[in-house]
Amino acid sequence: MKVLSIIGARPQFIKEAIIGSAIREAGIEEVLVNTGQHYDANMSDVFIKGLSIKKPDYNLGVGSGSHAFQTATTMMRLEEIAQTEKPDIVLVYGDTNATVAGALVAAKLKVPVAHVEAGLRQHPKDMPEEINRVVTDHISSLLFCPTQKAVDNLSREGITNGVYFVGDVMYDLFLKMRPHLDITGTISRFGLKEKEYILSTLHRDFNTDDPERLHSILSALNDISKEIPVVLPLHPRTKKAIEIHRFEKLTSNINLVEPLPYHDMMSLIIGSRMAITDSGGLQKEAYFSGVPALVMMPDTGWIELVEAGWNVLVDADRGKIVDLALRHDTSDQKKQKGLYGDGNAGGQIAEFLLD
Ligand code: UD1
Repeated sequence: MKVLSIIGARPQFIKEAIIGSAIREAGIEEVLVNTGQHYDANMSDVFIKGLSIKKPDYNLGVGSGSHAFQTATTMMRLEEIAQTEKPDIVLVYGDTNATVAGALVAAKLKVPVAHVEAGLRQHPKDMPEEINRVVTDHISSLLFCPTQKAVDNLSREGITNGVYFVGDVMYDLFLKMRPHLDITGTISRFGLKEKEYILSTLHRDFNTDDPERLHSILSALNDISKEIPVVLPLHPRTKKAIEIHRFEKLTSNINLVEPLPYHDMMSLIIGSRMAITDSGGLQKEAYFSGVPALVMMPDTGWIELVEAGWNVLVDADRGKIVDLALRHDTSDQKKQKGLYGDGNAGGQIAEFLLD
């Protein structure tokens, strides 16, 4: 059996680290394509090397551009590869332009599509990731859901065939890597003290490309930094937006660092007091680490954590972000067992593919 896996952006390198080894262990041949949507070394190579991902068989070198450019260029280059390789199934991950491009190419060549992290839904419905999710789910034959909520979302849209709750591959990876983390060493390398800092990330287009929201969020993080250090690994999109709007002054107290490799990021989240983020991944990794998160979105695909009182949606509300960051009581929070599976999502996906 031959699987063509498509990766291209940071969260997909992370997912491939689990899925790639699980499917190869199951004796499935994997042809790996990197679309090259993320190309800076600290957004791509550092994950491919640091997580021992197999060297991609094809690099499409798509790079930056509009959504249509990224999606269409990926599709044209990928179609040729799919026609040469003749895979039995195409595997796509998450919600990026690489995901939707891979799914469209495969579906039109009548090759079944398997979507890992299927069924997530959130507002605003016009955010690029949401468009990518909905389109991909509706043309996939196998839909591997990270949560029961995701299964329910698909069912509401009439998608019930080929839907499996397998758990979250990011949870698999977290459990696998945790014993190898140098948490204390990493915290002190960044000049921080355990539980005495906040880890933040910021890169959703509705936050970075809207100057009012960006102003409000940066001001909040800057205010908080006067009380407790805030570390912000800066995504290239956000860096550009800060330069364009000349918002540098709003970051004067924030500890800005380059995008971090997986091991550093996980060590810092585990050691932190709280996360303030608009990243889909980090709001869960905070939960895996026993750390609460303020989620800078109007809604989230991981709503179960909000319903459980673990995470709070703060949108871009400066007052709310500052207030909760300094006052959110985390003492009596309980974790629910099995929300994201049992740490074997990758193994289960490999088994379903073989079946
Ligand atoms: C993409 C995904 C998002 C994912 C995120 C993780 C889509 C629609 N969005 O968003 O789901 O959570 O990646 O990071 O696919 N840039 C660089 N170097 C890089 C990558 C990006 O300079 O290595 C700059 C480019 O100017 C680019 C901009 O950042 O235009 C935005 O990157 P892009 O790939 O469009 O989307 P992300 O915001 O990274």
